[in-house]
Amino acid sequence: MEKFIIKGGKPLRGSVQISGAKNSAVAILPAALLADTPSVIDNLPDIKDIELLAQMIRHLGGKVEKKKHEIVIDPEGLNSFYPPRDLASQMRASYYLIGALLSKFNEAVIAMPGGCNIGVRPIDQHIKGFEALGAETTIEHGLIRIKAKKLVGNHIYFDVVSVGATINLMLAACKAEGVTILENCAKEPHVVDVANFLNAMGANIKGAGTDTIKITGVDKLHGCHYTIIPDQIEAGTYMVVAAATKGDVYIKGVIPNHLEAIIAKLTEMGVIIEEHDDVIRVRREGPLKHVDIKTLPYPGFPTDMQQPMAVLLALADGISVITENIYENRFKYLDELKKMGARVRVEGRTAIIEGVEKLTGAPVYATDLRAGAAMVIAGLAAEGITEVMEVYHIDRGYEAMEVKLQALAADIIRVKE
Ligand code: EPU
Repeated sequence: MEKFIIKGGKPLRGSVQISGAKNSAVAILPAALLADTPSVIDNLPDIKDIELLAQMIRHLGGKVEKKKHEIVIDPEGLNSFYPPRDLASQMRASYYLIGALLSKFNEAVIAMPGGCNIGVRPIDQHIKGFEALGAETTIEHGLIRIKAKKLVGNHIYFDVVSVGATINLMLAACKAEGVTILENCAKEPHVVDVANFLNAMGANIKGAGTDTIKITGVDKLHGCHYTIIPDQIEAGTYMVVAAATKGDVYIKGVIPNHLEAIIAKLTEMGVIIEEHDDVIRVRREGPLKHVDIKTLPYPGFPTDMQQPMAVLLALADGISVITENIYENRFKYLDELKKMGARVRVEGRTAIIEGVEKLTGAPVYATDLRAGAAMVIAGLAAEGITEVMEVYHIDRGYEAMEVKLQALAADIIRVKE
């Protein structure tokens, strides 16, 4: 086990390069299996979840050549629809292999997906969609078995807006017979990115980024060369790093449009933000003002930024209220933040945060991916030494976080516990 040791209280300055989007990449790798020929995917984030997926694809018979930021996936030898149970259960996004393998083999068997423990995370909408395309599902001994004679397009209305279900149904439907209409879709930039990737392979998907997506099935897909979009949550995290440390940071390689909700909230708090083509400069000079935040599907404020933002609110003047509308249990990390002096009360899906003058360093746990990032930010802003334990959660989704922070002159090191 590894931990970070952080000596806080230093304004961070300099520039940080944002990596490719985790939540795009974890869908695009399985999507590459739908083609008959190899795909080259670049701007790949160098994170643990990608390593896990690459291993799973190799187990399925796919050929994978992985460099730090590029991967070549040759699906030709694919000969299994059963990804190894121990690997699949380690990450949430292994569910994208269901859509991809169902399309490829008309069958998939996979362990119930794992991932961050942030509340009940059902996949009923994915299953409802696959069944509407003609598949039958059984769940036994923790395995989902899903099988179809053939997949046929249908009209599917999602009861909840789900990133995973929207993408998974695009995967399953792009080679199904006829037309599939998906309604009440997620509109996140990574939904659009995956649709663009599938279309670059020869799929016919229209409307990604809106509520309704129309997919006209095609017989074959071919490999392509594709560049993943920048990670808006990683970008948002470093924006909060700059604000929390009273720093001045250039966040490079971003699409500012994808960051509007985060930019709006930070501006409301008194953080100074300059937008350039693919660079955002974030600096803070004065005190932080309290704000209220409600997490919502895109273009609303992203739930994945809720935890980093809470650290900033803990340091703002006055009382802020966060309402978490996506997950019912994404506040557990606040108990860790309290160890550092934050004044927080949780009532159901609401966290009431009363700003304090300063946070103080303490030993804390990274209880999940974004909670881990929040603890690092708190440590960077706090007086004294913070130890963040179980950083493997952070490594799942942030590329070389301590290295990027060191380049901003942060006092942070990784050590074995
Ligand atoms: N939901 C259902 N049924 C379903 C699917 C979802 O009820 O079949 C509910 C969920 O329980 C949740 C809401 O719908 O309350 C939204 O879930 P969604 O399906 O959109 O989330 P996800 O696909 O499981 C992805 C990201 C998450 C991110 C959410 C929301 C991946 C691998 N994960 O999860 O990322 O929070 O979308 O934007 O893409 C993270 O990166 O830290 C992370 C947790």
